[in-house]
Amino acid sequence: MRKFPQTRLRRTRMQAFSRNLVRETRLSAADLIWPVFVLPGSNKREAISSMPGVERMSLDLLMPELAQAQRLGIPAIALFPVVEASDKGPTAEAAWHDQGLMATSIRTIRQQLPELGIIADVALDPYTSHGQDGILNEAGEIDNDLTLTALGKQALCYAQAGAQVLAPSDMMDGRIGHIRALLEQHGFINCQLLSYAVKYASAFYGPFRDAVGSAGQLKGASKASYQMDPANTQEAIQEARLDLEEGADMLMVKPGMPYLDVLWRVKNQFQVPTFAYQVSGEYSMLALGLEQQIITEAAIIESLLAFKRAGADAILSYFAPWAAKKLADKPL
Ligand code: PBG
Repeated sequence: MRKFPQTRLRRTRMQAFSRNLVRETRLSAADLIWPVFVLPGSNKREAISSMPGVERMSLDLLMPELAQAQRLGIPAIALFPVVEASDKGPTAEAAWHDQGLMATSIRTIRQQLPELGIIADVALDPYTSHGQDGILNEAGEIDNDLTLTALGKQALCYAQAGAQVLAPSDMMDGRIGHIRALLEQHGFINCQLLSYAVKYASAFYGPFRDAVGSAGQLKGASKASYQMDPANTQEAIQEARLDLEEGADMLMVKPGMPYLDVLWRVKNQFQVPTFAYQVSGEYSMLALGLEQQIITEAAIIESLLAFKRAGADAILSYFAPWAAKKLADKPL
């Protein structure tokens, strides 16, 4: 047993050089994925009042921002569409329209920034008139298998448009297997699936729903019949195992900071690439704290580092470009 005073843990902490040498976890731009919201049309830029510092933009204005993110070393973006009310409906058909907002955006980004990873969210909620992630059956329930058929069409549409990664995010049962089989059949054998394997029915998604405009549609309705109960962790392991068996390449745990225990468990159990999502509610709390000078910039970097320490291979964060700049000036 090592003991005091032979062992003084403060010795290596005394100076910056040795703190650097013994640091167990690193964070850099290469760990970050930037979630962005794309608006239809051109020359449009809108602030999101519940997400200070985040804007929704039409693709023409978004492109230079994406180019800048790539220059900062951010490997990939997660793309979310802001769909016009006239394109929303009960069966979400705009989700797989070849000339739709997602497909056209993906094609342009692939063409102009061929090296940037595009993670396309595969879920129906931006497209449904009721704001749920699934299609309702005659009984008014969110129907799992009807939804799978729609997700398959959406996934193929985005793969066809050039998304290298598809991210099914709705927690329907069997969606990874269904999409993986379709991708194989249609020759998209290298299209990656990042499964939102462990996604909780969380109260931290509010600002995102404002951003994509699904909050007005949802009217406070719950997603608890498909997203996970925040009380559960055993179930997280089952979800992750099933998605890996069905053909997921990467797993995600979401939300982030309140679920670091789950992230740690999933990473250790399966030892596969595991991403964490610092979601909109987490972002906004931190951003407001910073704005009000209740916390400092270091707290934001610390929040991102915590994901790495808990086992994340990459982190989705609305702070990505900001953090990449900070880390370029002052590497961790
Ligand atoms: C829905 C989706 C959500 C988020 C990403 N995809 C919200 C929800 O489930 O209602 C949340 C992201 C965030 O809060 O930042 N498919």
